[in-house]
Amino acid sequence: MRLSIVLLAAGAGKRMKSSAPKVLHTVLGRPMIGYVLEAASALKPKHTVIVVGKNQKTLRDSLKAEGRIIYAVQERPLGTADALMKAKETLTSPAGTTVVLNGDTPLIRPGTIKKLLSIHKSRRNSLSIASFSAEGPNSYGKILRDEKGRAVSIIEESEAGTRQKGIAEVNSGLYAIEPDCMELLKKIRLNRKKGEYYLTDILGIAAKSGLKVGVYPMGKEEEFLGVNTPRELLMAEEAMKKRIAEGWMLKGVRLLCPGSSFIHPSVKIGPGTVIYPNVQIEGRTKIGAGCTIYPNVRIVDSVLKAGSVIKDSSLIEESTVESRAHIGPFAHIRPGSRIGESSKIGNFVEVKNSSIGKDTKAMHLSYIGDSKVGRKVNIGAGTITCNYDGLRKHITVVEDGVFIGSGSQLIAPVRIKKGAYVGAGSTITKDVPASALAVSRAEQKNIKGWKRLRPSAPRRKNEA
Ligand code: UD1
Ligand code: CA
Repeated sequence: MRLSIVLLAAGAGKRMKSSAPKVLHTVLGRPMIGYVLEAASALKPKHTVIVVGKNQKTLRDSLKAEGRIIYAVQERPLGTADALMKAKETLTSPAGTTVVLNGDTPLIRPGTIKKLLSIHKSRRNSLSIASFSAEGPNSYGKILRDEKGRAVSIIEESEAGTRQKGIAEVNSGLYAIEPDCMELLKKIRLNRKKGEYYLTDILGIAAKSGLKVGVYPMGKEEEFLGVNTPRELLMAEEAMKKRIAEGWMLKGVRLLCPGSSFIHPSVKIGPGTVIYPNVQIEGRTKIGAGCTIYPNVRIVDSVLKAGSVIKDSSLIEESTVESRAHIGPFAHIRPGSRIGESSKIGNFVEVKNSSIGKDTKAMHLSYIGDSKVGRKVNIGAGTITCNYDGLRKHITVVEDGVFIGSGSQLIAPVRIKKGAYVGAGSTITKDVPASALAVSRAEQKNIKGWKRLRPSAPRRKNEA
C-alpha cells in the first residue's frame, strides 16, 4: 500500500499566547509534534510530510533526529485545507492514500490510525474521518448527519447554531483521503469570517460529488485532545503522565504518587524500583531494577544501576550512578560524574565531572570537582577540591584507601597517593606520598588564663 502521512503544523497557534510554534510546546519534555510523528511512523508510510509555517527553522531543528521528513511550507496560515494543499504539492503521483493528522494531538495512538485506515480500505471510501464523542463545551467541529445517519458535513463550534452546539460527535482531525478526494481540495471556498480554508468542508463537497465518504466514531476523547490553549496543554500533560505511569506500573515499578511525578517518555525504569512523590525523571535516563528514589529528586539524562538509592531533594545530571550507591539527601551530581558501586554521597555534597570509586564515602558538605577518587576513600565533612585557579580547571587525584580529614582543601593539580592521610583542616598544595600523613595547618597555641587577661568590653551608656 502506498501511504503518505501529512501532519499539519503550520497554524499560528494564537490561542497559546506564546511566540513559540504551537506544536513545539512540550508534553513531558517532548514537543507535541514528536508524539504525533511517532504514532504516525508506526504505519510505515512511504512519505511523511510536515506542513510548517514561517517558524520552520526551529521546528525542523527540533525534529532533526526523527528520520526522513519532507517539509511543505505554508507561508501564511490560511487554514487546514490550504495547509494540506501545500503538502499535496510535495507528493509525487501516484500518491496513494493520504492520512492527515493535526500536529496538536499528542495523545493519538497508532492503533487508532490503523483502525481508521482499515475501515477506509474495507469500505473502499474516498474519504474517511475519525470522530469521537466530546463531553462538555469544546471547540471541535461538529459532525452533521442526515436522517439516515449519513455524515454530510462538519460545522466548526464557533459557527454552529445552538442546536448544533449540542452535538456530541465531533471531528478528531484524523482523515484518510484517496487521490480523487484530494482533487476536491481546490473546491473549498474561503471562510470569510475566519479568513481560512477549512479542511472540514471537504466532507460536504465529497459527499455532494458522489464520492464514498464515512465518519467513524472511535477512540476515547482523551486520545484526540487537541491542544490549542495552555490549559489544554496541561490536560495533555496530565493524561500523558497517567499513561506513562500506568505503563511502568504494569512492568513492576512502584509509583507512590503517580500524579505528582513527571517521567519523560524516553526514560527506562527497571522492575522493583520505588518512586516517591514529586520526582522528575527526564530525557534519556535509565534506571535499573530495585532502585529507590525518594521525594523531590530530579534526574536528567543519567544512568542509575540496580539497587541505587537517591535520597530526598537531590539533583543528578548527565552522570552514572553504579549499583547500590547512595546519594543525598540534598546532593548535586553534575554532568560527567560516575559514582562508584556501593559508595555514599551525602548531604550537601556537590560532585562535578568526577569519578568516585567503589565503597568511597563523602558524607557531608563537600565539593568534588574534576577529580578522580579511588576506592574505599573517606572524604571528611567540608572537604573542598580547589579545581579552578581563576583561569583554568585542574585535576585532583585521590588514590585508593586515602583518608581526608574534615575541612581540608585540596588545591589542584594535586595527587594524594594510596593509603595516605590528610589531617583535618589542612590545605594541601603538594602531592602526598603513599601511606604518609600530610598536615598543613598551623600548630595550636593555648594561652593560659586568657579569660582573666582578656580586657573587659566597655559598658554601653544605655546598658543597665
Ligand atoms: C480543527 C478542525 C476541527 C477539529 C479539530 C480537532 C478545521 C477547520 N477544524 O480545529 O474540526 O475538531 O481540529 O482537533 O480543520 N494548521 C496549519 N495551517 C493553518 C491552520 C492550521 O497547518 O493554516 C494546523 C495547526 O498547526 C494544527 C492543525 O492544523 O496542528 C489544526 O489546526 P487548529 O487551528 O488547531 O484547528 P482547530 O481549531 O483545533
Ligand atoms: Ca487544534
